[in-house]
Amino acid sequence: MRNFNYSIPTAIFFGKDQIGALSEQIRNFGGSRVLFVYGGGSIKQMGLYDQVVAILKTHDLPFWELAGIDPNPRIESVRQGIEICRKHKVDFVLAVGGGSSIDCAKLITAGFYYESDPWDLMIGKAKFVKALPLGTILTLSATGSEMDNFSVISNFQTHQKIGLGNPVMAPKFSILDPTYTYSVPKKQTAAGTADIMSHTIENYFTAVKGAYLQSRLAEGILKTCIHYAPIALANPDNYEARANLMWASSLAINGLLSYGKERKWSCHPMEHELSAYYDITHGEGLAILTPPWMEYVLNDATVEQFKDYGVNVWGLNPGEDSYALARQAIVKTQEFFMSLGLPSTLREVMIGEENLKIMAKAATKDGAIGEFRPLHTEDVYNIYKSAL
Ligand code: NZQ
Ligand code: ZN
Repeated sequence: MRNFNYSIPTAIFFGKDQIGALSEQIRNFGGSRVLFVYGGGSIKQMGLYDQVVAILKTHDLPFWELAGIDPNPRIESVRQGIEICRKHKVDFVLAVGGGSSIDCAKLITAGFYYESDPWDLMIGKAKFVKALPLGTILTLSATGSEMDNFSVISNFQTHQKIGLGNPVMAPKFSILDPTYTYSVPKKQTAAGTADIMSHTIENYFTAVKGAYLQSRLAEGILKTCIHYAPIALANPDNYEARANLMWASSLAINGLLSYGKERKWSCHPMEHELSAYYDITHGEGLAILTPPWMEYVLNDATVEQFKDYGVNVWGLNPGEDSYALARQAIVKTQEFFMSLGLPSTLREVMIGEENLKIMAKAATKDGAIGEFRPLHTEDVYNIYKSAL
């Protein structure tokens, strides 16, 4: 296990009616004028919008709205949000929704203190210095953005989708009420589960040895998803299922699983190119790519970790040959995603061969990705091809 510095600064208010903490938390972090960021209207349908507005009004917190954040949030929305903040002297940003609203809000908070275009921060042309305080109310269990410091923003003009982390963007607090996820449609429940599992898998399969505890925690999160996602799909109002998926979402990516390991991911950079070129749902792209990636990286150096995965996560018989076990575990993974209604091929999400080479090149433009088995352009291309 490598050295690490533990720091997960986001305060979590978990459970039913925890929205009661909202106004006090905004005030605690110096908020008096709020930018309220949300997506395409799901929070209005579920009544959460009215609840938030009532709280802000009751507690004399003037607010301005940035609505309509798209899934795969655009840099244009970030620019718009920064403009509103400057114009109205906003001192606190509140994101209500899924990862897209939260990610957009994150870059607004940092971009506010940068005088030029916020895209510069994403492409490394400018440094993150500080950020406005951010609070979130999560409505979709998936990205873990509610408890990490990453923001993933798309620029469709340049065909780029970039994910970048910086401590200044970590939310100060997040309200996690599982009942807000009752209305999440089946497709998003399934894609969210694939995303949580992918974050866990990225942290689990690593070449760093000896982080035994982190690996067992990861297996617990994977088993939680495998157990509860079908329940949430069959019965969307099942509190226990929604609560477990919600907490799994946060724990999969907040650092807990990656401390002491290498954080160089594989399927995410490959998926971000698919989203950048085809605007597909992130979790669906991950469900498609994960099994072929697993097959591609399976070799003598990695087979024992796949064996652990098969035995500890999927309950396979440890007595069997390691390769046979590994392959069964990969099949189980793919079958599970398919049982949730997720696609298993690129063609199902309307991706053909046309851009595979360009996307493979883009995914590896800064060198090989991943460290479990480093992937060069040709490797990424091969994985895309086998996912067709
Ligand atoms: O826009 P609204 O109307 O809110 O509808 C959304 C959207 O259509 C809907 N939804 C959310 N909560 C709902 C709901 N519908 C009904 N009831 C609810 N309670 O679901 C759709 C998808 O929402 P979105 O926020 O886009 O989904 P998600 O949370 O999966 O976020 C995806 C984005 O996050 C990035 C992805 O790449 C993608 O851009 N990621 C962010 C990460 C991070 N910050 O750490 C890491 C991830 O790996 C990921 O890359
Ligand atoms: Zn993800």
